[in-house]
Amino acid sequence: MRNFDESNITEAVRDRVSAAPDPRTRAISDALVRHLHAFVREIEPTFAEWEAAIGFLTQTGHMCDDKRQEFILLSDTLGVSMLVDAINHRMPEGATESTVLGPFFVAAAPELPLGTDISPGIAGEPMFISGRVSDPDGRPIAGAVIDTWHSDDDGYYDVQKLDEHGHFAMRARFRTDADGRFHYRTIKPAAYPIPHDGPVGRMLEAQGRHPWRPAHVHFMIAAPGYETLVTHVFEAGDQYLDSDSVFGVKQSLIREWPRHPAGIAPDGTAVDQPFATLTYDFGLKPAA
Ligand code: BEZ
Ligand code: FE
Repeated sequence: MRNFDESNITEAVRDRVSAAPDPRTRAISDALVRHLHAFVREIEPTFAEWEAAIGFLTQTGHMCDDKRQEFILLSDTLGVSMLVDAINHRMPEGATESTVLGPFFVAAAPELPLGTDISPGIAGEPMFISGRVSDPDGRPIAGAVIDTWHSDDDGYYDVQKLDEHGHFAMRARFRTDADGRFHYRTIKPAAYPIPHDGPVGRMLEAQGRHPWRPAHVHFMIAAPGYETLVTHVFEAGDQYLDSDSVFGVKQSLIREWPRHPAGIAPDGTAVDQPFATLTYDFGLKPAA
């Protein structure tokens, strides 16, 4: 067949990709062609706009290296990451909701004893984090491995300020005790803008959006027999809860981080300045 035009090009491409031997590839290719062509038909781009789109994707690729993944940031800021997450994490009652992983997770953080201060020497308001990991019926999960990471009080992760913080600051791995409990000390993180010095930042600006995320602490919790949970706990009252640049906020993940005067902390140590506490009990979904 030849002489493709507006009226027949979509069906012609669908017909061509229908030869894909793998059924999933066939279905994905067909949906891709249908939706992409529908988008182009709706937009009716000029050649200049089409070139700008190709240029945007090219710059997005050029922005990527082993530390920066601009395509994931694009997926995050267009709500695609949260949509994929929602489709893949339909949680039963009693299981904690998930949210985006983000680019600042570092695998193989050192495992530390419960109670460790993971922000030694870093300026900020002390914060004592504690909680419990259980199954959806509330039965404790002992030995669950908790990766936790968060920003400093200026909104920067250790990996963004290696000169100042070094590796593995404000991040660590803990293991729940026999009652499924964990606790550690750190500093209170701040809201921060996602990396916006590249094409995604320019897209946000063009769309009249800000790049900020509300203050949060990341958790990744793994235990044999359960789905690994990737989530955050957000601070109640943060000004960006309703406009998170990556759409990651869920009501069930928001907690008060109460402030306390100087005195005895929850871990029994004396603290000579006001401090915050954060408590969250996580539920893990049994593996299929
Ligand atoms: C984060 O919370 O670390 C994050 C998530 C998505 C994009 C950028 C940062
Ligand atoms: Fe984060």
